[in-house]
Formats: sequence, structure tokens, C-alpha cells
Amino acid sequence: RRRVLSGIQPTSDSFHLGNYLGAVKQWVDLQDEFDAYYFIPDMHAITAPHDPKELRARTRRSVAQLLAVGVDPERATIYVQSHVPEISQLSWVLTCITGFGEASRMTQFKDKSAKAGQDAASVGLFTYPILMAADILAFQVDEVPVGEDQRQHLELTRDLAQRFNKRFGKALTVPKAHIVKEFAKIYDLQNPTAKMSKSAESDAGLINLLDDPKRSAKKIRSAVTDNDRVIAFDRENKPGVSNLLTIQAALTGRAIDDIVSSYDGKGYGDLKVETAEILSDFVAPLRGRVDEILADPAQLDAILADGSARAREIAAGTLADVYDKIGFVPRG
Ligand code: TYM
Repeated sequence: RRRVLSGIQPTSDSFHLGNYLGAVKQWVDLQDEFDAYYFIPDMHAITAPHDPKELRARTRRSVAQLLAVGVDPERATIYVQSHVPEISQLSWVLTCITGFGEASRMTQFKDKSAKAGQDAASVGLFTYPILMAADILAFQVDEVPVGEDQRQHLELTRDLAQRFNKRFGKALTVPKAHIVKEFAKIYDLQNPTAKMSKSAESDAGLINLLDDPKRSAKKIRSAVTDNDRVIAFDRENKPGVSNLLTIQAALTGRAIDDIVSSYDGKGYGDLKVETAEILSDFVAPLRGRVDEILADPAQLDAILADGSARAREIAAGTLADVYDKIGFVPRG
């Protein structure tokens, strides 16, 4: 079976709607057709200043959220990155075939380090995309379901795989980004030309899955639209309206055109109210489910132990081949 892999950082208490619609929802959709590996990149989460207690809680909470939205440990392998040491070992080898200039061109690093300031940004933040390449390449993955903002990291991953294979002999599968164009970039509700992100200045345009559904519905009803009154899908001229249509389409599985025509003769108020209802129906049961899962930490740890055991087996195979091809003496 073809293999799919992806990760989501444990850097907040709740996934946001962009994470879910751009990535995690695809994970759920792909877990039957593919041999699926989904993980929490806790090592990526320490590239910026963090609180250890919070990281531990958020890592478990992230796993609980994956389960709550339908990632199924019977069908997918679920693990925490730091439980699979072969990933870091592979990462070093990849670091040594990455050009300094090549790494310097990563736009996410440029943005984040500019925000943090030169000296505040860690070397880990700089090498972050190489660790991400190791996450993927350790598993001989065919497809990586992510949002648009990860595209450049996937390109680097592909380049590194091809480079390694060419220099040392084929050891790594060259993966493809699986980006669902329609949903790969969900926008901030108050600033609908910027992507929805937890690092936005205000959280008025951010929907957290685990927030009070009433609060989230209100945020949708207060979404910025435009001065026109026509409901149409036009990202360029009507970014706010298009974002609401996209959210509604993603949550209902309906085609955007179909939704647009159902609003014939109706106004923005109707679009907002109905989208808010659909969203709040979707998020309403999630908090309860997450709490239930977190109430049984032994069960959650068992899922992770099982996942990392399966994951390590595959990653160890890749690492052995890579170590051999690169010329390391076998441990014997
Ligand atoms: P992270 O944790 O920032 O985001 C998780 C996923 O959510 C997607 N996403 C969005 N999609 C649509 N609209 C948005 N507004 C939006 N915001 C975020 C992201 O594209 C991502 O797919 N580096 C990764 C984590 C990672 C990873 C990996 C992913 C580490 N190793 C290996 C895949 C494979 C990240 O920081 O995602």
C-alpha cells in the first residue's frame, strides 16, 4: 500500500480551523486508502522558547484532538516524534548534505527569525526544515498531506532525497506534497488575505476547535466581508466571502458552486449565520471527546507506545541503509 505521513506541532492548546481543514481532515480521509503515519513533532516545538510543562500537556492534548476528529489508531500509526530517535539520527546526515544558502532561503525561517530577532532565533529554527525532511524520508513516504504553507519545506525534502540517492545510491523515496488546493489555505476571519494562524496579532479571526462553540459561532458571524452584496466565489475581489464559502464547503462536503447557488437572492447575513451554525455543530462534541480521552492517560500512552514501536521499525530500516550507503562502519 502507498504510504502517507504528516505532523502537527503541539504549540497551542487547540488546533485551529486552518490546521483541521487544510491538513488533519485530509489525514482522516486518507487513513483507509493509505498506510498512514501521523505524529506530533515535539522536537520541532522546542525550536522556539517554550514551557516544558505546557509542551508535555499540549503533546498529549494534540494526540487527543487527532483521536477526537477521527484519526483511528487501528487504521493509522500515531506517535510522538521524540519517541523515534532514528529521525534525529537521519536528520544529521541530511543536515550535512544541505547547503547553507539553500537552508537560508526557507521563507518560514526568514519570517520567524525576523520576528524573533537574529540572536533570539535558535539554530534549531534554522535547521527545522531539515528535521522535517528526516521526519518524512525516514518512512519512505509517497504523499504528505499539508497546507500551502508547508510547500517549500516539501520541495526541500524532495531535493534532499534526490541528492542523497544520486550521490550515495538509492535509499530514499521521493515524496509528493498532497495539497488540496481548495482548502490548503484558510484565511483569518478579520483579515481574509492573511492565513489563519495562531500568531496573528488578534485572535478575533482565529477559530480554535476547542473554544466555546458559541464564541466561535460569534467570530464567524463577525467575519469581515465586503461592501458589495453579492455572494460569489472570487478570492481576489471577495476574499472574506470566499473564505466563508470555503469553510462551509469543507465542513459539509458540498461543492462551492452548489453552495453559491443556494444563496441566490439571499444576503451576507444568511451566509454568516448558516456557516456559524455548521461550524458550531461540528465543534460542539469535540471538547467533550478530548476530555474523555485525556481522562484515560494509560490508554493514550498505550496508543503512543504501540505507534512508536511500529514507526521505529520502519525508520530503523531506512537509517541502516543510509548509514551503510554513506560509509559508516557497521556497529557489529
Ligand atoms: P503546523 O503545526 O504549523 O500546522 C499543521 C498543519 O496545518 C496546516 N495549516 C493550514 N492549512 C490551511 N490553512 C491554514 N491557515 C493553515 N495553517 C496551518 C499546515 O500546513 C500543516 O499541514 N512543519 C509542520 C509540522 C511538521 C510536518 C512534518 C508536517 C513537522 N514535520 C513532516 C508534515 C510532515 C508545521 O509546523 O505544521
